Amino acid sequence: MTTTHYFNPVHIVHGAGALSALPGLLEGRRAALVIFPEARGIGLTARMERALGDALACVIEDVRPNPDVAELRPLYERFWREQADTEVIVAVGGGSAIDTAKALMTGTAGGGFDALVAGLAGDAPFAPTHFKSLVAIPTTAGTGSEVTPWATVWDRERQRKYSLHLPQTWPSHAVIDPELMLSLPPAVTLQSGLDALSHALEAIWNVHANPISDTFAVSAVHDIVAVLPQLMAQPASLELRGRMALAALKAGMAFSNTKTALAHSISYEMTLRHGLPHGIACSFMLDDVLSRALGQRPDRDRVLAEALGAPLEDAPRRLAAFIEGLGVKTRFADYGVDEQEARDMVLHALSGVRGRNFIGAQPAGEQP
Ligand SMILES: [Fe+2]
Repeated sequence: MTTTHYFNPVHIVHGAGALSALPGLLEGRRAALVIFPEARGIGLTARMERALGDALACVIEDVRPNPDVAELRPLYERFWREQADTEVIVAVGGGSAIDTAKALMTGTAGGGFDALVAGLAGDAPFAPTHFKSLVAIPTTAGTGSEVTPWATVWDRERQRKYSLHLPQTWPSHAVIDPELMLSLPPAVTLQSGLDALSHALEAIWNVHANPISDTFAVSAVHDIVAVLPQLMAQPASLELRGRMALAALKAGMAFSNTKTALAHSISYEMTLRHGLPHGIACSFMLDDVLSRALGQRPDRDRVLAEALGAPLEDAPRRLAAFIEGLGVKTRFADYGVDEQEARDMVLHALSGVRGRNFIGAQPAGEQP
């Protein structure tokens, strides 16, 4: 029998009203609140300020979508100049807010951001000298960043994407409260839901998959397929928000141990070159990636059949129909990518760090 290791150190508080646990989780420590700018207009920033009370050290609101090194540099350096003694970061928002917090929590020797970027880019050895702890409070159901140690940091000037991943960048706590998701706009609800679907499937067609990640992933796929269309029709339903939050959490738990694979590897190019939001960029071609996964390994076929139902040969068509049913186009051409560019993009993605996690990845130099 094969031995399985599964590890996730995040203390999770989940359910409607979970936010009320926040003051207790801080255990008397002061916290910097990192939150997306639109939160002020919907009263969420004020609500967080009240929840933190005397523990609030500062509020950082200039979180950008897909955080870029050029935007993070001044934020990071001011943060470490002014908040060196603050022990905790409370990140509230989607993946961008939590990823920004993960960059901020990682301290360099002199407080300079470029040492961190050089380490991420592989230009210089990097040893962070100090860390703050992170309480992640997602307001979307999809990113999974609240239960993983990874942050995506973009460098548009160099047309690159970096992955920050250190043993210390796991959040200490994830507070998952569906009440905070009730005001999520339809487009973001859809994008984050499809991101979660992608995380679950990527955890299955993954060389690092194991029976524990499979359990989370299969259950997540079932939930997302059942709940996401209902939620799009009834966005004010707290019950459906709660079920979708749990589904996204399961997907996060699955890929927290496998990492992502080919669909995410393709998505980075689609975001950099074609400006697609992450949730669409990593999901529009899931049927195509599924077709490539089928038949690669009997054990993965079995789990995919469990997740997507039989007959498996028909699963790519059904998956595409599900995504299209949500109003998302599923062909590269729909996004202005011609056949040659799509082929090149997939080849490039297969040889990328995440692409090599895909069970259908070929040794470098071979055609997929
Ligand atoms: Fe993702």
